Amino acid sequence: MSPASAAVRLTDFEPEVDDFAEDVRRGLAATPKQLHPKYFYDAAGSKLFDRICATSEYYPTRTEIAIMERYAGEMAALAGPRVRLVEFGSGSSVKTRLLLAHLDQAVAYMPVDISRDHLMEVAEELAAAYPEVEALPICADFTTAFTLPAPKRHPARTLVYFPGSTIGNFEPAEALGLLRRIAKLAGDHGGVLIGADLQKDIGVLETAYNDADGITAAFNFNLLSRINEELGGDFDPRLFRHHAFYNEELNRIEMHLESLAEQTVTVAGQSYDFAAGETIHTESSHKYTEPQFAQLAAAAGMRVRHVWKDDDGLFSVQYLETI
Ligand code: AVI
Repeated sequence: MSPASAAVRLTDFEPEVDDFAEDVRRGLAATPKQLHPKYFYDAAGSKLFDRICATSEYYPTRTEIAIMERYAGEMAALAGPRVRLVEFGSGSSVKTRLLLAHLDQAVAYMPVDISRDHLMEVAEELAAAYPEVEALPICADFTTAFTLPAPKRHPARTLVYFPGSTIGNFEPAEALGLLRRIAKLAGDHGGVLIGADLQKDIGVLETAYNDADGITAAFNFNLLSRINEELGGDFDPRLFRHHAFYNEELNRIEMHLESLAEQTVTVAGQSYDFAAGETIHTESSHKYTEPQFAQLAAAAGMRVRHVWKDDDGLFSVQYLETI
């Protein structure tokens, strides 16, 4: 065991493993057809997502990092000394490091992730970089309820960090349920630091999900490759197109895979008919105005203490506190 890993203590809730075959069967049998965006992120999909974040069109990641670079000190000052930092997900170590570098005597870092290997890797890296902060990774599905382990030193406050505008990938009712559980975890006098993408010019939004090099399209198509490889499907990618657009009524970008012809596709011995123009809805990415997000936070039992934005008002990092 390396010295870094000796400092890391895993709490394992043994989250249920996804049933990809069953979810695909249900999703393709449903009307309209749909697949859950969590299935984007196998090894190939995660690499494609990293490449999306580096495109000039996809502004959220670089804008959020720039906000953290500029304001992490102010965020840390609001949180105060001796926090236990709970991160929803463990994919954002650049942003987390910016926060940890400014937090005053943080007592513990607790990333929460369903992928045990990735979680341990990130926790060990951060334990090595911040040996004075106890690393307490939690293997759990953060969309379900779980509890926090007690750090050795008593924390003054729990700060839940949920970066990446992942909250936008939840339907509003699900987002509310998730924020309620987050508020409960943060507890009395707790803080929540959350990245939320903002409503803006439709052209900017649609371009972000239709990059010129087709990386977002490849990310979307990766779902079909996964179904073909893992479930013995016979999707012909040439008979589908990536379709991403802003739904103004629901304030969200929708990603779809649209069938270019009437066709029948077989997956695991089951056939599914597609009309020409019929789509599989693969992702929604909700965009909020500040008042809408404040309303969501209030419904979850929190008030907005501060909002940091970039100069163009593209993205927000918001500090919520439990009421
Ligand atoms: C992870 N999530 C916040 C991204 C988004 O913008 O909704 C996923 C993504 N889909 C296409 N591009 C990026």
